[in-house]
Order: sequence, then C-alpha cells, then structure tokens
Amino acid sequence: MAFHRLVRLDQLYDGFRQSFRIEREDVLLLQRDGRVFLIEGRCPHQGFSLAQGSLHGERIICPRHGFAFHIEHGDCFQAPSCRLKTWLPAYDGNYLGVEI
Ligand code: FES
Repeated sequence: MAFHRLVRLDQLYDGFRQSFRIEREDVLLLQRDGRVFLIEGRCPHQGFSLAQGSLHGERIICPRHGFAFHIEHGDCFQAPSCRLKTWLPAYDGNYLGVEI
C-alpha cells in the first residue's frame, strides 16, 4: 500500500467532486458538510460511472439504474451484496490523499 496525493486541502469545499485513477482503482473524492469521502467511482452493479451520480444526503445515486449507496461505508440500499469500496482519507502536510 502506498500514499497517493489527490488534492491540496485548500482546494476542497462542500460540493467538491473529482475522479482519480489510482493503480487499478477508480476513486471518487467527494466533500459534503466539511467531511471528505473516498468511494469507488464505478457502480458495482454494472460498472457505470458514479462521477455524475446525484447526492442526496449521505447517499449517492447511480445514474444508470438508480441504486443508492451510502458514501461513508458503501452499503447499497437496494442490494446488500452490491457494495462500493470506500477508503479513509489520508494526509501528508497540506495534501489529502489515499492509501491504496
Ligand atoms: S449500473 Fe449502477 S445501478 Fe446499475
């Protein structure tokens, strides 16, 4: 596992959203209510991108078939076996990153 820098902390704001490709992972970084979330950027149902998914509270909705996922722990509300990967944010000085 290695640390990968994503953004400077001063670039973040509520509503921030950016996708990254790290190693073999698609990672979607979101900030909501001052908290940063790092979730799998592809829907585990059929691989559709969640980059344009709508955010409703702590749920992100896949634009393809409407599955909703909790952005903190990745659970799917419609199909418990269909779970998003999530990562904890990691920090290095003024940078936010992820360890993958
Ligand atoms: S591809 Fe996301 S719900 Fe089907």
